[in-house]
Amino acid sequence: MDDPDQSPAPTRSLKTSVGPSTVSAYLDPLYWDKRFSSEEHYEWLKDYSHFRHLIQLHLQPVSSSSVLELGCGNSQLSEELYNDGITDITCIDLSAVAVDNMQKRLLSKGIKDIKVLEADMLDLPFTRESFDVVIEKGTMDVLFVNSGDPWNPRPETVNKAMAMLQGVHRVLKPDGVFISISFGQPHFRRPLFEAPEFTWSIEWNTFGDGFHYFFYILKKGRRTMDSEGCSEKFDIPSICLYQEELDNEDYLFRTNVEEL
Ligand SMILES: C[S@@+](CC[C@H](N)C(=O)[O-])C[C@H]1O[C@@H](n2cnc3c(N)ncnc32)[C@H](O)[C@@H]1O
Repeated sequence: MDDPDQSPAPTRSLKTSVGPSTVSAYLDPLYWDKRFSSEEHYEWLKDYSHFRHLIQLHLQPVSSSSVLELGCGNSQLSEELYNDGITDITCIDLSAVAVDNMQKRLLSKGIKDIKVLEADMLDLPFTRESFDVVIEKGTMDVLFVNSGDPWNPRPETVNKAMAMLQGVHRVLKPDGVFISISFGQPHFRRPLFEAPEFTWSIEWNTFGDGFHYFFYILKKGRRTMDSEGCSEKFDIPSICLYQEELDNEDYLFRTNVEEL
């Protein structure tokens, strides 16, 4: 999104017309339907090229993995994964318009293998232990708009986030991996990821220039007493936005979640 050569972003006029007047709209399915009716492509956070190295570092071998993407929107993530050799991909989104558009777009590119379904990530319609990998980019963050004090989010927010995580944990295979690509900082995400019912270990990396994004890797069945360590535990970058990032990102969203 911030690199037009690698990921054509929608025009500013289009983006302006689809941006909401308040962040609460991000919690409204109708907002997404309306937005996707006019917006062809938008990458939240960064596009695949910025974190491909992290995917490849943590998912080996990737090609034989069955992958579930939560809240695909009109991102190109699934086709980028497909082009990297992962053919067993299922995308879901709450927005019927996003699903319809994604199905058409993939078919127009000759990609028939990727399944795209209308579904709620808070109530995943899959049997337990169905996927090697679950991935989301900016989708969990939506649950945190209007969450109140980030140190003490509203019970409704916590309940939704836990419903999502419980579903992800359930549909992951015993040694499956959940990848969460997020604005949310570790001191706000860890209390949720580390709930006692989850058996996954937790690591994270950052990527991006200026503003850093978080790439969480949760490996099911790997939780140990000392598995809460992480490569960048004490290295949480300060928030520093370049003007071009302010221009190119959906700033309204980020200003709301940047403390998460
Ligand atoms: C911030 S956008 C991220 C889109 C995409 N992942 C990307 O990186 O560009 C959030 C997406 O999540 C979808 N979404 C919101 N709530 C959802 C839910 N409960 N279940 C599934 N999808 C949801 C929205 O329709 C939207 O497509």
